[in-house]
Amino acid sequence: MTERVSVRPVTVPEFRAAKARAERLVVVTAYDFPSAQLADAAEVDAILVGDSLGTVVQGHANTIPVTLGQMAYHTEMVARATRRALVIADLPFGSYQESSRQAVRSAIRLLKAGAAAVKIEGGARMAATLAALVRADIPVMGHVGLTPQSVHQMGGFKVQRAQETILADAQAVTDAGAFALVIEGVPATIGQAVTAAIPVPTIGIGAGPDCDGQVLVWHDLLGLFDAFRPKFVKQYANLGDLTREALQQFRDEVREGRFPGPEHSFK
Ligand code: KIV
Repeated sequence: MTERVSVRPVTVPEFRAAKARAERLVVVTAYDFPSAQLADAAEVDAILVGDSLGTVVQGHANTIPVTLGQMAYHTEMVARATRRALVIADLPFGSYQESSRQAVRSAIRLLKAGAAAVKIEGGARMAATLAALVRADIPVMGHVGLTPQSVHQMGGFKVQRAQETILADAQAVTDAGAFALVIEGVPATIGQAVTAAIPVPTIGIGAGPDCDGQVLVWHDLLGLFDAFRPKFVKQYANLGDLTREALQQFRDEVREGRFPGPEHSFK
């Protein structure tokens, strides 16, 4: 008989309450079944099905082309593999900007695909949309500072330094009911100021060491993406080199007739 190990999933209220207990939160992106299984086994607190998949999986220059259908597809794979971590899915560009009604409809699609919460980019200007999502019982994570979906407005992926605006954005998103907030691409002093100002956990990416938690993109963390490496990325392993070496060895063994050997052949 297979032993069923019971795992207690991380819930939205627990994730939110971690700040009051001064527990640092660990978040990583994942986009498919095997990577989500590995992240879950590593006991991260949350897995973000990020629209960063547009760059690191699909090979686009930015996240703009990612569709809601693609996000739902990847969310399904991640949710199927996840037993413990909180699964949060990004609402992609074009799936929530038109109206609160559109945002609610899009978020429902991601929750039906298996996410427990969604993330939307934008501060004060998105507060009403965020509040509409919360009213529809959809937990929402905010995202302020460098918001990659605004790449054309920002004129590129640039560190955001307008402290007062970013603080006001963080406050607006929190007042609208966000249970947590990603802060991206800001000086460490702003990461610290926002973290001190709001009651919900801040999850930093390029926002310094004082946020309540940190998030990294799977491919950056594991050395699987080398198109560009922002300063804030720490590479914890180089799976890119390992993969290249393994594939070259496979190539050589096939060409030289050394694979498959008797141990890989049926009698
Ligand atoms: O899309 C993403 O992966 C994100 C993280 C970088 C926070 O939004």
